[in-house]
Amino acid sequence: MSTPLLDFDDVVCGYGDTMVLRGLAGAVGAGRVLGVLGRNGVGKTTLMRALSGFLPLQRGRVTLEGRDLARVPPQQRLAAGMAYAPQEDVVFGDLSVSENLWLHLRGRDGQRYAACLEAFPRLAERMQQRAGSLSGGERKLLSFTRTLGLRAPLSILDEPTEGVQPENIERMARLVAARKADGASFVIVEQNLQFLLSVADDILAIDHGECSLAGPASELPRETLEAHLVV
Ligand SMILES: Nc1ncnc2c1ncn2[C@@H]1O[C@H](COP(=O)(O)OP(=O)(O)OP(=O)(O)O)[C@@H](O)[C@H]1O
Ligand SMILES: [Mg+2]
Repeated sequence: MSTPLLDFDDVVCGYGDTMVLRGLAGAVGAGRVLGVLGRNGVGKTTLMRALSGFLPLQRGRVTLEGRDLARVPPQQRLAAGMAYAPQEDVVFGDLSVSENLWLHLRGRDGQRYAACLEAFPRLAERMQQRAGSLSGGERKLLSFTRTLGLRAPLSILDEPTEGVQPENIERMARLVAARKADGASFVIVEQNLQFLLSVADDILAIDHGECSLAGPASELPRETLEAHLVV
């Protein structure tokens, strides 16, 4: 097999003396989606922080296009090809929706966000409104839109559908599928199994910071996956 876009191996990390992840491994090829699932508190977000560089590894390795990311700080990872939409604190509440979308970009190429804004007209209508006045689900849509608009080879989405209305969740799945068709890759943490299975090629389930199940999504029975979400 050719070198995967993202590869991580033996990832061990945590907070202070508390070790959360105990040696996780995975890989994401070009145009593929790795779905990450597990019950609350098992370490899904911690893995996303480890992959995006916000949390230093105590052990292990993360590579993107064969490049070891150990010395690439989080703010340089977008230039290296990795975009990250965290689970919490997804937008700048005091800035407008428009400012949230354009703040970090030099040019204003409207095409960047066209597909998402067409899919989420409520967001398009609220361009001049404070992002902090949006509902939790709308803020998630704004974060999703911003991240997809970056057109990074790899996007990390931590529970993108949390609080989002069902019809918009279906649109999110279609937008992810369109990016996949263009060769983009994703790591997506989700509790919404229907959404995850509509986009994921491979699954990594986590329990107590360890891999409890991994494999192609099409080969894992739905009941088995559901069992990894239930408390
Ligand atoms: N900043 C932090 N400092 C200390 N411990 C933390 C911190 N963030 C998370 N933890 C702990 O690490 C463990 C894993 O948390 P994490 O947020 O990665 O879980 P999760 O699988 O994303 O959960 P959820 O489904 O609720 O989002 C938990 O025991 C949590 O309490
Ligand atoms: Mg989490």
